[in-house]
Amino acid sequence: MKKENTLSKVNLSIAYRLFYPQVPLLVCAKFEDKIAAMPANSCMPISTDPPMVALSISCNTRTNSIVSRSRRFSINWINYDEKKLQRAIIELGSGLISKKRAPDKLRAVGVEYRLREGIPVVEESEAFELCKVERKSRHGDHDLFVATVLEARGSFDFEKYWKFRSYKPVLYLGSNRKKIEQLRSF
Ligand SMILES: Cc1cc2nc3c(=O)[nH]c(=O)nc-3n(C[C@H](O)[C@H](O)[C@H](O)COP(=O)(O)O)c2cc1C
Repeated sequence: MKKENTLSKVNLSIAYRLFYPQVPLLVCAKFEDKIAAMPANSCMPISTDPPMVALSISCNTRTNSIVSRSRRFSINWINYDEKKLQRAIIELGSGLISKKRAPDKLRAVGVEYRLREGIPVVEESEAFELCKVERKSRHGDHDLFVATVLEARGSFDFEKYWKFRSYKPVLYLGSNRKKIEQLRSF
């Protein structure tokens, strides 16, 4: 029998979940006194020369409006062993903190950061990139931000490639329950 005949139909509204597990990155941005932060699975490198990334952000998010105005953002790689940051991924992605309308979302969840070229960078991140938005285009209910990478830094565990001696990537399995068990590592 053909494999196709044994596969059940997936509702298209959850087709994106076929991509799981994914490594979520923390996206941070600042405009005036507002600090945005959210986990994002939909981020990928799209050019090596010049180095560029694409990031898809829902039009309804506060991060979208802040990145649209600042035109700068950071992406931060999180180590699974940083339990506080692991929790922050869930909190920052849940929408509950956004509803509280705290001007500084990172401070609201107790995540330490520093400003680098005016862009918030997570203090305990395993690696980060600073990005400058070149283009924004609407695709369905998300905006795609195409950005140039201005600077990239990684921990000692990154020597041209990740060695995975200390860095344990976070894997997001997806869930509609806001539970820490949504995350795994390998
Ligand atoms: C692990 C994880 C990955 C996510 N990836 C994305 C993503 O790539 N794009 C997106 O628009 N939302 C994504 N979300 C949802 C946003 O993080 C969520 O809507 C968040 O509350 C937005 O916060 P804000 O309104 O303060 O910007 C993700 C959530 C989680 C938990």
